[in-house]
Amino acid sequence: MEKKFLTIPYEEYTSIEELDKKDRSLMTAAIDALKGSYAPYSHYNVGAAVRLADGTVVKGANQENAAFPSGLCAERTALFAAGAQHPGVGVVSLAVVCSQNGRLMPNPGSPCGACRQVMAQYEREAGVPMRILLGSGGPVLAFDGVESLMPLVFSDL
Ligand code: THU
Repeated sequence: MEKKFLTIPYEEYTSIEELDKKDRSLMTAAIDALKGSYAPYSHYNVGAAVRLADGTVVKGANQENAAFPSGLCAERTALFAAGAQHPGVGVVSLAVVCSQNGRLMPNPGSPCGACRQVMAQYEREAGVPMRILLGSGGPVLAFDGVESLMPLVFSDL
């Protein structure tokens, strides 16, 4: 037996302001996407924006439902919208923000396991590491590749 450790490389920016123009604009799109959040049960609003290889930006927001499991996270809403509306165009980056009572949260939100699994497959389809930006009103964490967020991910290949 050999004990092994995984390390997770990521960048931490003090705020959205410190990001380069491209990343900042995707974060701004995710903030704008919060307008579409439907969260009458949790009152936790999540906005997401994905950038495609051709530069298109697609937004998503969490959509809740009285039958709780029928709701969907912002990340998958955005990814599935991108897949449905722009089939075959790879997703190159994803930004996620969250807010409560109209205020951006101080700390980054983190995608749930189901969203990470979906992100992994879109990344595989795109053939390039997906840049993932997590932040809201405070620091922004940036990951280059879903593997960083979901090591040993399931793949049917
Ligand atoms: N949610 C997201 O949209 N993304 C995440 O990464 C975590 C959770 C949503 C689901 C639900 O509408 C609300 O946040 C509270 O869990």
